[in-house]
Amino acid sequence: MRNTIIELKSADLTLGNAAASVHVLRSIDLKIDEGEAVGIVGPSGSGKSTLLMVLAGLERLDSGEINVRDTPIHTLSEDRLADFRGRNIGIVFQSFHLIANMTALENVAIPLELANVKNAFDIARKELQAVGLGERLSHYPGQLSGGEQQRVAIARALAPSPAVLIADEPTGNLDTDTGRQIADLLFAKQQERGMTLVLVTHDTTLAARCSRQIRVASGQIAGDSHAEQARLTTVSA
Ligand SMILES: Nc1ncnc2c1ncn2[C@@H]1O[C@H](COP(=O)(O)OP(=O)(O)O)[C@@H](O)[C@H]1O
Ligand SMILES: [Mg+2]
Repeated sequence: MRNTIIELKSADLTLGNAAASVHVLRSIDLKIDEGEAVGIVGPSGSGKSTLLMVLAGLERLDSGEINVRDTPIHTLSEDRLADFRGRNIGIVFQSFHLIANMTALENVAIPLELANVKNAFDIARKELQAVGLGERLSHYPGQLSGGEQQRVAIARALAPSPAVLIADEPTGNLDTDTGRQIADLLFAKQQERGMTLVLVTHDTTLAARCSRQIRVASGQIAGDSHAEQARLTTVSA
């Protein structure tokens, strides 16, 4: 039996102002185990990105609970939450989110320095080497291909050795081959470090590579391969 690493209970969130508010997450209950690779799919606008932002502690719930590594992160102050996030959760976005006027090395090292990590530049160099960018340390994002930029973003996310890696359409801006290489890298890192990976994707091939698939529709969980598996096991037992 594996340990639960992320747990959402009756998670509810409405975004926007009164004139144009959207009930984005509707009473979501979800448990993710340590070491799982979860692929979240669903139509555009269904709440996938918002769900990831809640899991990452970047968006707060209106009501309900979110526990990560047994910490009720909805109860943390902004400072404590930022600190918790920095130590436990890595995040990768579709559009890389690198800082344009920093080199690849600085993009990975500076966040570590800001978190008071010793040897930030040494760690950053190793992480970049480990994603195949040892020869690109002093390149700026604009001098790198999309796939290379996403590798920098992955190195940055992995540098603090997070227990959870969250990725919002990490291959969405890449061609098929590059996207596959980035997916290979994510799964390799997940295996190597025993991390929990939660990713959103439109790519059914990528979702199928995850150990568990969850479908989100209209802010609710409309399908979960894990739950379906459990039900089948119960029925056949
Ligand atoms: N800051 C916001 N203010 C108002 N509505 C928002 C905001 N962010 C997202 N939404 C709405 O919430 C819904 C879910 O968005 P999102 O989580 O980005 O969906 P997905 O990632 O599945 O495409 C959409 O209808 C979107 O327009
Ligand atoms: Mg989205």
